[in-house]
Amino acid sequence: MRYVTAGESHGKALVTIVSDVPAGIPIDSTMIDRDLARRQVGYGRGGRMRIETDRALIVSGVRFGKTIGSPVALSISNRDWDNWLDVMAVSGPRPADAERVTSPRPGHADLAGCQKTGSDDVRDILERASARETAARVGAGAIARALLSALGVEVMSYVESIGAVSCVADPESVSARSVESSDVRCPDAMVSQAMRAAIDAASSAGESLGGVCVVRVTGLVPGLGEYAEARQRLDARLGGALLSIPAIKGVEFGDGFAVAGRPGSQVHDAIVYEPGVGITRATNHAGGVEGGMSNGQPLIARVAMKPIPTLMRPLASVDIDTLESVDAAKERSDVCAVPAAGVVAEAEVALVLADAYMDKFGRDCLSDMSAALEAYRERIAR
Ligand SMILES: Cc1cc2nc3c(=O)[nH]c(=O)nc-3n(C[C@H](O)[C@H](O)[C@H](O)COP(=O)(O)O)c2cc1C
Repeated sequence: MRYVTAGESHGKALVTIVSDVPAGIPIDSTMIDRDLARRQVGYGRGGRMRIETDRALIVSGVRFGKTIGSPVALSISNRDWDNWLDVMAVSGPRPADAERVTSPRPGHADLAGCQKTGSDDVRDILERASARETAARVGAGAIARALLSALGVEVMSYVESIGAVSCVADPESVSARSVESSDVRCPDAMVSQAMRAAIDAASSAGESLGGVCVVRVTGLVPGLGEYAEARQRLDARLGGALLSIPAIKGVEFGDGFAVAGRPGSQVHDAIVYEPGVGITRATNHAGGVEGGMSNGQPLIARVAMKPIPTLMRPLASVDIDTLESVDAAKERSDVCAVPAAGVVAEAEVALVLADAYMDKFGRDCLSDMSAALEAYRERIAR
């Protein structure tokens, strides 16, 4: 399952085409909209989120509530577009009020983007580099999530830390309800309060914050991914997908970097036999991936997000026209988007896992996939 997106932050709409979609997956637009809404919530988001209420228009690939085996195209309108008709005009000369942006923001795509493309207007870069694009990814991910859900796989995420405030939680026992009832998507109500306070303090100081979110996937069968082909290793595919999210700078599976400092006996998960369950593991330090494949345990991935680059008290920059020292540009911006990044991470993980299921169980239709999955489960159950 692959997707492409198109669309600028203040353009008419974001669009995505998801190709390689098996037939027979139940889809309705409310479930896509539910994920889009989860991406929009979050204490610390900018004014934009109050303007937009994202809704997906299903343009193709779904008939009578099910996919029909053709690419699924979605369109998500930018409600703010009406306010940007001049600045984002498709044709005609540049209007007088569409001033160029010439002070690139450190930490963003602005400077290298202008250098790479030869543009003299940072807006040409920032409109596409903006994480508004991740709304389209969440739409695409909802199609993958629907396939996974039909195969008994659930994907969720929560926020583990924002700035210096963290919660201690067992990723395998966090409930989705506790997460979605918090506006920072943290399962601990007391820690949520401290996270909000940290965001308020950052906002008052003209600062921004990053943090860590955890993605958990349950219901996976072992053997998804590949041990034999480098590019098909599941952790490589998941890592690449997660690092494709703007501002995500690190990915860990299971105990992650901590395993590097421990002896092997405290890192590897003993193989045990449990009647009624079969061959399983005593622990899950690996986070559900071994040898480039799922091992049947819950997949636990942690992603680290850097602080938002747009600062209301901007860092120094250089005007690309005059070469004078200036303050970096200010665009309307989030102070913290870690809660939203978790939802985007769910989408990226769902797309990779849906594809891994299709590699193993077929790509044409859900009923054939379900039958192949059932046969596989029977074969490995002992
Ligand atoms: C959900 C989400 C929302 C974001 N919101 C903003 C924002 O409002 N302002 C901003 O400057 N960066 C925001 N970012 C981060 C930038 O898009 C990102 O830092 C930038 O594209 C540069 O890419 P890099 O951080 O991967 O180097 C957001 C990222 C995500 C995932």
